[in-house]
Amino acid sequence: ERNKAMIRESWERLGKDKLPHGTVMFTRLFELDPALLQLFQYNTSSSSPQECLSSPEFTEHINKVMQVIDTAVTHLDELDSLNEYLAGLGRRHQAVGVKTNSFTMVGESFLYMLECGLETAYTSEIRDAWVQLYSLVVEAMSRGWSS
Ligand code: HEM
Repeated sequence: ERNKAMIRESWERLGKDKLPHGTVMFTRLFELDPALLQLFQYNTSSSSPQECLSSPEFTEHINKVMQVIDTAVTHLDELDSLNEYLAGLGRRHQAVGVKTNSFTMVGESFLYMLECGLETAYTSEIRDAWVQLYSLVVEAMSRGWSS
């Protein structure tokens, strides 16, 4: 269907250069919510967002995030098959202190990355297609949070 085609096509551009695009996303996220930096244990209180963003562990996390998105895009026709994995990923994030409401900001940052990466190819249709996919991923991850 059309949304899937738009997602696959736009990810072809961003997925080629995961780290630079992912860095745009997390730079934005820490602008929106600097407190999230503290959740990364290898980040010491004295390090700036720039230092954190370029540390190898953090770079690893950016790659992990981009890889999850990549997996979602390659499983667009069978997203349900990722439910268990995504719930487990949610549990893992609850354990490190992430709150589900942070996903709103993560979503904003994700769209910012899309906008920067796609430049003039970024349309409201593409945006809406990704918002839909992102909501499904967040919903699946949120099932991993126990209250
Ligand atoms: C692991 C923080 C968002 C994917 C982790 C870890 C931390 C963390 C502290 C453990 C240390 C590490 O592996 O680097 C955060 C914060 C987020 C966030 C503060 C934003 C609020 C995301 C998102 C995704 C993601 C949106 C993907 C959709 C992963 C993966 C791991 C991980 C795949 C490794 C899990 C494992 O070891 O099994 N995250 N994360 N993270 N994160 Fe995130």
